[in-house]
Amino acid sequence: MSAIKTVDLTKKFGKLTAVNSVSLEVEQGEIFGLLGPNGAGKSTFISMLCTILNPTSGTAEIEGYDIKDEASDVRRSIGIVFQDPSIDDKLTGRENMELHADLYGVPRDVMYSRIDEVLKLVELEDRSSNFVNTYSGGMRRRLEIARSLIHYPKVLFLDEPTIGLDPQSRDHIWSYIRDLKERENITIMLTTHYMEEADKLCDRIAIIDRSKIIALDTPGNLKDELGGETIIIESSDNDLLSAKIKETDLADKMMKTENELNICVKNAHKLMARIVELAVTIGVYIESITVKEPDLNDVFIHYTGREIRDSGGREPSGMAARMRGRIK
Ligand SMILES: Nc1ncnc2c1ncn2[C@@H]1O[C@H](COP(=O)(O)OP(=O)(O)OP(=O)(O)O)[C@@H](O)[C@H]1O
Ligand SMILES: [Mg+2]
Repeated sequence: MSAIKTVDLTKKFGKLTAVNSVSLEVEQGEIFGLLGPNGAGKSTFISMLCTILNPTSGTAEIEGYDIKDEASDVRRSIGIVFQDPSIDDKLTGRENMELHADLYGVPRDVMYSRIDEVLKLVELEDRSSNFVNTYSGGMRRRLEIARSLIHYPKVLFLDEPTIGLDPQSRDHIWSYIRDLKERENITIMLTTHYMEEADKLCDRIAIIDRSKIIALDTPGNLKDELGGETIIIESSDNDLLSAKIKETDLADKMMKTENELNICVKNAHKLMARIVELAVTIGVYIESITVKEPDLNDVFIHYTGREIRDSGGREPSGMAARMRGRIK
């Protein structure tokens, strides 16, 4: 049995189709990512799986339970961390956990030990008696993750788990998510518009753009399908060098930017030497030459003609710029 299975799942808001006939299957124990720019339909898709929104058409099952006919079984099987923060910051961390455990009917005799267990998992046990309004953004997110686990869910949905967090908190949360998969043996579906997050964390990814899946595979396969790397060259005469390279069979595809020559090739490391040799014979001085492996942004460009990072995210612009700087 799959942990998640959707068939032609569709959601329309009036004339707008937010999720367009999405079919996918997620195996138990997988970390599955939905990667896509703002407005792609990621949250809407997850909201249907969590029984928060009714689909317009199509079906879905979570752990074998139908989201329409067996909604309460679905709810018992899942944990959710919403995109928008939903923690009560006038309560302590532990009080938030108790409230949630009560809400989900976790029996009192196991509740306290379970609270300790999940607080420990996200390393918040020392701060659990502090009010949440004294927590950092990363700590709040960790508390939300702990809270979503209190009733032993089989499937965990994380909607933009690290949005707006600094790189260090982001790394932290990634390691908790990986840990979770090992220790709790659960299936995780997360949404993100950070390609680095999808790449590092997910076993498989569905790239979603404008309400549809445009590619679905492991991060490695998605990148391999592009069939090569990019050699990036800065030289004393990019025009001459590119003209000469064109006369050979060295490059599959070449792109000139203001200062650089980007050459797409299949075996970059071998070809680098030949390109340097060619440059020497025509008297062009190479200032720098580097090889860039394809990333998921290249995959996104390949399928859509646009950059995923152009779309940005719902976060402070300074942070967005910092993250982009780091990812690039
Ligand atoms: N309740 C609603 N009523 C009308 N339109 C909606 C509603 N919720 C979402 N939409 C629209 O559906 C589309 C998909 O939105 P959704 O929130 O699912 O995207 P997303 O991929 O999660 O984006 P983001 O990265 O910004 O979180 C958007 O065009 C959005 O405006
Ligand atoms: Mg969203």
